[in-house]
Amino acid sequence: MNREPNTLAPRMPLEAVPAPDYQTGFGNEHASEALPGALPLGQNSPQQAPHGLYAEQLSGTAFTAPRNANRRSWLYRLRPAAMHEPFALLKDGAFHNRFDEQPATPNQLRWNPFPLPSKSTDFVDGLFTLAGNGSAALQTGIGIHIYAANHSMEKRFFYNADGELLIVPQRGRLLIATELGVLQIAPLEIAVIPRGVRFRVALPDESACGYVAENFGAPLRLPELGPIGSNSLANARDFLYPVAAYEDIEGQFELIAKFQGRLWSAEIDHSPLDVVAWHGNHAPYKYDLTRFNTLGSISYDHPDPSIFTVLTSPSDTPGTANMDFVIFPPRWLVAEHTFRPPWFHRNVASEFMGLITGVYDAKQGGKSGGFVPGGASLHNCMSGHGPDAASYEKAVATDTSKPQHVADTMAFMFETRAVIRPTKQAMEAKELQSDYWQCWQGIKKHFDPKHK
Ligand SMILES: [Fe+2]
Repeated sequence: MNREPNTLAPRMPLEAVPAPDYQTGFGNEHASEALPGALPLGQNSPQQAPHGLYAEQLSGTAFTAPRNANRRSWLYRLRPAAMHEPFALLKDGAFHNRFDEQPATPNQLRWNPFPLPSKSTDFVDGLFTLAGNGSAALQTGIGIHIYAANHSMEKRFFYNADGELLIVPQRGRLLIATELGVLQIAPLEIAVIPRGVRFRVALPDESACGYVAENFGAPLRLPELGPIGSNSLANARDFLYPVAAYEDIEGQFELIAKFQGRLWSAEIDHSPLDVVAWHGNHAPYKYDLTRFNTLGSISYDHPDPSIFTVLTSPSDTPGTANMDFVIFPPRWLVAEHTFRPPWFHRNVASEFMGLITGVYDAKQGGKSGGFVPGGASLHNCMSGHGPDAASYEKAVATDTSKPQHVADTMAFMFETRAVIRPTKQAMEAKELQSDYWQCWQGIKKHFDPKHK
């Protein structure tokens, strides 16, 4: 979709928006009020809520989900969320969940960065679906999208009933005004917008682009730490939640819903970001990836990349995630007599990778334009992959008695238990590298049965 900007709509007055305040702690029972006394004390649903507000519960998990998985928030707002005109189905665009348009391919795939839009495009219109699996209907799987925008969402609001959105900026900041308050994120930070939460994205910079995982499964949570202990990887205290902030604005607005893979539009005569106070743990949050406490081997070999998991969406099978969000940050490599880059491997899970900045240490050379920031790769279930020829030759020649610092990098992976199915538009995009497979063709045969 490419919409003309609504010229009657003023740009969001960013200069009037102070730097957002935050509450800290992953999954905490946060509480915030933008107006003193707006948050009821001692009960959720008083006969008359303070200041004439309406109380409304937003449930992100089943009412009876176990306590450690249960997500819900109580919102105290100017009007209930039910107040809007009927939704009408929008014409299909580039943001969708059609993952069965063509056979999934076992080929290794890689895309160059997609260009910024030439027409005025906001965050929702700038979403382009690359791949996915499962379905919103079955509450399993993920959608994988990229976004590229050059315009703030004006008089438009969006929510996703199909899943939560994990937003990974690659260029440009995003100011995300949500029902529960404002998050600002920049590249090297992420935001997660829970299922159902209404929001609008403004662009503090001229343009913005990045990646989005749409998680149809269980909400993302911190991974278990097992023998690692009670600290490390992504620490709970580093996750930031917004404080309550509300708009008391009436006018002509559009509310866009993503529902069962399709977009719907409804007129609404007020800003739905009218929550004056809230408490609960079903709330948007942000995280600075540079806070990740990266662990690895200090002897030999290196652990599976699950050691780099930031967030995970568990499935019904223990230890087998619906999706993992994994990062490859700057780090020291010290393992001795060890092949230090990611090894050659085949995986029962499927791996979509993006690069936020710098160079990924398993893809340093080769043809095809390489793996560059803003690009993407896909290695599906049991498809062989690993370092390219140049990275391999460099690694086997490295003096492993010396530590090596991997600097200037931040790659990430959306890893899922189910095969990731590229969309038709992704397979037909001119950004798809037709010769990516050749990066492994220059690998030499060194086998000699006469020598150890
Ligand atoms: Fe891999």
